[in-house]
Amino acid sequence: MVVLEGVSKSYPTAQGKVEALHEVTLSMEKGEFVVLCGPSGSGKTTLLMTVAAMLHPTTGSVTVGQRNLYQMSSRARAKFRAERIGFIFQMFHLVPYLNVVENVVLGAQAAGRSGGSVQARQLLERLGLDGRAHHRPSQLSAGEKQRTAIARALFNRPKIILADEPTGNLDGDNATSVLGHLSDFHRNGGTVVLATHGERAEQYADRVVYMSEGEVRS
Ligand SMILES: Nc1ncnc2c1ncn2[C@@H]1O[C@H](COP(=O)(O)OP(=O)(O)O)[C@@H](O)[C@H]1O
Ligand SMILES: [Mg+2]
Repeated sequence: MVVLEGVSKSYPTAQGKVEALHEVTLSMEKGEFVVLCGPSGSGKTTLLMTVAAMLHPTTGSVTVGQRNLYQMSSRARAKFRAERIGFIFQMFHLVPYLNVVENVVLGAQAAGRSGGSVQARQLLERLGLDGRAHHRPSQLSAGEKQRTAIARALFNRPKIILADEPTGNLDGDNATSVLGHLSDFHRNGGTVVLATHGERAEQYADRVVYMSEGEVRS
């Protein structure tokens, strides 16, 4: 499902280059739940971004579902990302001036698909957000914001969900709820890659991949 081969990424800075990933070679099977574990600064976000078709590696190739992401045109890559990949951020990244249901359908609209607000409402019900459909993000708790972000990611029926420290700003119960929803997606055949520096998510994983200093250790 996902193959990284010799992926390096360096960021130019005023102080010179920072190498965030160093020759990472890694594959993930279709339907696998992989937890990417490593301390802050080890390159987890950078790795997820390259798999999400959002960040061009400096060298190496990234293949998702047989498609070599960075050999595609940027337009084709954006379309592929919108259709196949769901992304969940630690800081939610909801659009502040749209309500919950509008946030959920936004990505699908950007991908050229029509409304589907009935489907969105069903999804919100499943995530326990049916009473929140017309609230703006500022009116939601952190747990509700992240469940909205999960609804947004699921709405496109992606093949793969990438989650970057999705429970980093949540208390225990909300973290468990978010991991439970990702686990449901996995149980229904979805592929999940979740980055974390904690241990909570490991119990949901088929496999834990450890990172440090831009390299995969196992
Ligand atoms: N845009 C950027 N510009 C410069 N350096 C960056 C940038 N993004 C990340 N880095 C650096 O790359 C390394 C890996 O960062 P990151 O992928 O965010 O790791 P993690 O998600 O594991 O904390 C760190 O040293 C970080 O400071
Ligand atoms: Mg990170």
